[in-house]
Amino acid sequence: MGPTRSKLDLKLVPPSVALVPSYIEARQAGPFSHMALNGFGDEAIQTVAADPARYIQGLTYEGPREIVTPNRQVFVLRRHSIRWAIDPAGVFVGAVSLRLDRDHPLIDLYCGNVGLGVRRDWQNHGYGTMIWRLVFDIFAELDFKSIIASANVDNLASIRSIEKVGGTIIDRNDIYGYGEALVFRIAVPSR
Ligand SMILES: CC(C)(COP(=O)(O)OP(=O)(O)OC[C@H]1O[C@@H](n2cnc3c(N)ncnc32)[C@H](O)[C@@H]1OP(=O)(O)O)[C@@H](O)C(=O)NCCC(=O)NCCS
Repeated sequence: MGPTRSKLDLKLVPPSVALVPSYIEARQAGPFSHMALNGFGDEAIQTVAADPARYIQGLTYEGPREIVTPNRQVFVLRRHSIRWAIDPAGVFVGAVSLRLDRDHPLIDLYCGNVGLGVRRDWQNHGYGTMIWRLVFDIFAELDFKSIIASANVDNLASIRSIEKVGGTIIDRNDIYGYGEALVFRIAVPSR
């Protein structure tokens, strides 16, 4: 299936068991990551298919999560949500990892408020840009005036997509050992 539908009709929804078959189909079309810290949500397809309810329960857990960085610093994310982007037919398009804590050194200095992944076979067709706009609606609702985003220095698609939605570079660092990244601030458009 190709990316033919209107991007304007995308929605961000909580992951659900009903959407798991489409998620699995997207994973089979190419490598995919939720871009969540510590990689949660990216279990093997076989694990997802064996017990979708258990997988969704883990993915939608919104209580505190401990994050251990590659250089062994430990942080707790207290407010975190995963949302799946779906098209009008309920086809899985991508996912966002929303890190909603304020004044959090891991978020503010390096990882940013958002991890964004578009299914591999639909990348570079404008879906990432559209999903960014839906993400801004969520942060506007929470009264964030700006958010942080980051991209590995080698990730041209991510850098370009952040620049395209108004990101300006505020730092470049590798303080937690994930790899050298550009850190951006993006003003959240008012609704
Ligand atoms: C990064 C990502 C989310 C961007 O989403 P996307 O749907 O592919 O991007 P879009 O089609 O909306 O394009 C946004 C801009 O990036 C550019 N772009 C997209 N893929 C690109 C690539 N591989 N190389 C260079 N530029 C690229 C587009 O040309 C566009 O810029 P333009 O309008 O000036 O031409 C997506 O590629 C992805 O999921 N990558 C893997 C996961 C990842 O690295 N996530 C980011 C870390 S948080």
